Amino acid sequence: MKGFGIVFIGLVLQSFLAFSFDPSPLQDFCVAINDARSPVFLNGKFCKDPKYAVANDFLFQGLNIAGNTDNPNGSNVTLVNVDKLPGLNTLGVSLARIDYAPYGLNPPHTHPRATEILVVVEGSLLVGFVTSNPDNKFFSKVLYKGDVFVFPVGLIHFQFNVGRTPALAFAGLGSQNPGVITIANAVFGSKPLIPVDVLEKAFQLDADIVAYLQRRFGEPSNY
Ligand SMILES: *[C@@H]1O[C@H](CO)[C@@H](O)[C@H](O)[C@H]1NC(C)=O
Ligand SMILES: *[C@@H]1O[C@H](CO)[C@@H](O)[C@H](O)[C@H]1NC(C)=O
Repeated sequence: MKGFGIVFIGLVLQSFLAFSFDPSPLQDFCVAINDARSPVFLNGKFCKDPKYAVANDFLFQGLNIAGNTDNPNGSNVTLVNVDKLPGLNTLGVSLARIDYAPYGLNPPHTHPRATEILVVVEGSLLVGFVTSNPDNKFFSKVLYKGDVFVFPVGLIHFQFNVGRTPALAFAGLGSQNPGVITIANAVFGSKPLIPVDVLEKAFQLDADIVAYLQRRFGEPSNY
């Protein structure tokens, strides 16, 4: 009987966990529009009246085009979220194309609202994620063409092109709006900046190193 109780509580908890992500849609679809007069407001977007929905509401074109990787990271993420594909509204998924220059990096970041499943289409990538405290265990792998890897929701992860040729990956994300927190930018480039003494203590760094990092990641107006 006791065992049954534990299983029951487990099931209840599990169903709560299942609802801690994008909610289940209450209708077939809810094509997002930016019309404040629409009577239905759901999940941050207004819904188009379904009888006016057309095939193009469910279409995004151009994911065959590489993003420009000529930037300090040497990578470029083209995200197809609800802002680019209105038909995604309430459906709990989105898609990204990620291009990597040789030795390009998609720097350590997290998606607060989504698990990510990534498939390598060209090249080879060193990928990894780190679990939460206290273990902070690092799971890492070198992926080749056709390999698929999953980054659990909320955990810090990255992809690094370890090849001498460009790499290409696509990723599915379990939210229409996964969100991104790029660690270095959030910590050292917040607006306004986090006080130097906080970062000095948190990262066990000298103040001048913190100031240097804030100059690298902060906006010019911040220093
Ligand atoms: C990514 O590529 C697009 C398309 O080439 C470009 O407009 C954008 O500025 C690039 N982003 C970065 C961060 O380089
Ligand atoms: C690197 O990429 C991240 C995520 O796209 C972006 O936020 C950051 O500004 C880039 N860093 C540099 C130095 O370009």
